[in-house]
Amino acid sequence: MAEFKADQKEKRRLTTPEVRKLSKDSTFYVLGVVSRFAQRRDKNDNPFWDITLMDGEGQIEGKIWGNSEWWNVGGDVKYKMDPISDENLKKLEGRTVGLQGKVVEFREQNQYNFNAVYYVDQGKYPPHGFVRRSPVPAKTMEDAFLELLEICGETMRGFLEYLFFQRDIWQTYTAWPAAVSLHHAYVGGLLEHSLAVTRSAVGIAQNYRSGGFNVDMDVVIAGALLHDIGKLESYRLSPAPEMTLGGNVADHIVLGYHRFMTLAEEYGRKNGANGLSERSVLAVGHILVSHHGSREFGSPVLPATPEALIVSAADDLDFKLFCWKEQTSLLDGEKEVTEFVPAVQRRFWKVHSAGEEKKENKKEEGRESKIPS
Ligand SMILES: [Fe+2]
Ligand SMILES: [Fe+2]
Repeated sequence: MAEFKADQKEKRRLTTPEVRKLSKDSTFYVLGVVSRFAQRRDKNDNPFWDITLMDGEGQIEGKIWGNSEWWNVGGDVKYKMDPISDENLKKLEGRTVGLQGKVVEFREQNQYNFNAVYYVDQGKYPPHGFVRRSPVPAKTMEDAFLELLEICGETMRGFLEYLFFQRDIWQTYTAWPAAVSLHHAYVGGLLEHSLAVTRSAVGIAQNYRSGGFNVDMDVVIAGALLHDIGKLESYRLSPAPEMTLGGNVADHIVLGYHRFMTLAEEYGRKNGANGLSERSVLAVGHILVSHHGSREFGSPVLPATPEALIVSAADDLDFKLFCWKEQTSLLDGEKEVTEFVPAVQRRFWKVHSAGEEKKENKKEEGRESKIPS
């Protein structure tokens, strides 16, 4: 068995997006933080493990089979570890490890088998250094958030400022992920997603208002900014995104509605007649509970107002567009169609070839100048 040699491995080290572009039978080495780790048993009662590794650019899921090797390479002396009895390996989530693996094909999809696990020096490779972050700078997001508050009327803006800035939600809201996997599952993901949903919702609401619909913009903005507020309790960063017990057993829709109603009542008690009306509170609360758009996806009631329909549509759109971006970015060279994505029940298509894209961009430049701002 070849011993782990840090320098040698560093040279062959790939990022998780690079690994996902490899073809069948390729071998690789990745280093990152474990975001999910679960022991299972096969039909012969032999142990194997499901593992998800995050490395700052993405993540990769794979399997560690019973015949894999486990090495502690964190100290001066390298030694073999026993995954069943070693305490370090029982709590692998949130720790940095190196994985040596191979691409295999299963049911026409690429899968990843890891044949060696290297438990590295946690001080030299601190886990938080491998946690993926939103590509949008924090300052850009903060400015966009404040601009959205500016659109609100005084009463709603007062409430949102109280909720975000006086009740200590802002710090967590800006750091939190929007999911454990699937979409915006990284530091700053919740804010990035909430801003995208709110901006789309404002655009749609403006469109319908100019068409004669009576859409309450304050309710749209508050509902969109707060629609996933329950994720503050249903996820945690440790340092990779993880589901909490509350998230598992109550879900972000219930947790979010409860937190919102509690804060709205508190604000009402402090501000009396200057607080939000009971109907505004309920209209925003309705968005929180209905935003998944169907009972099948966890909403106990379906969107029943123009504001709730708009936020729910904007939320669904942002989720699917994120999946499109993430999945098509993994396509290699000539491939145009992604592998099947179970969460959205489709394959995605990356339409343009390089030549066509240039022509189209020229057309777009001309078209944009004709759109009134
Ligand atoms: Fe949600
Ligand atoms: Fe959402």
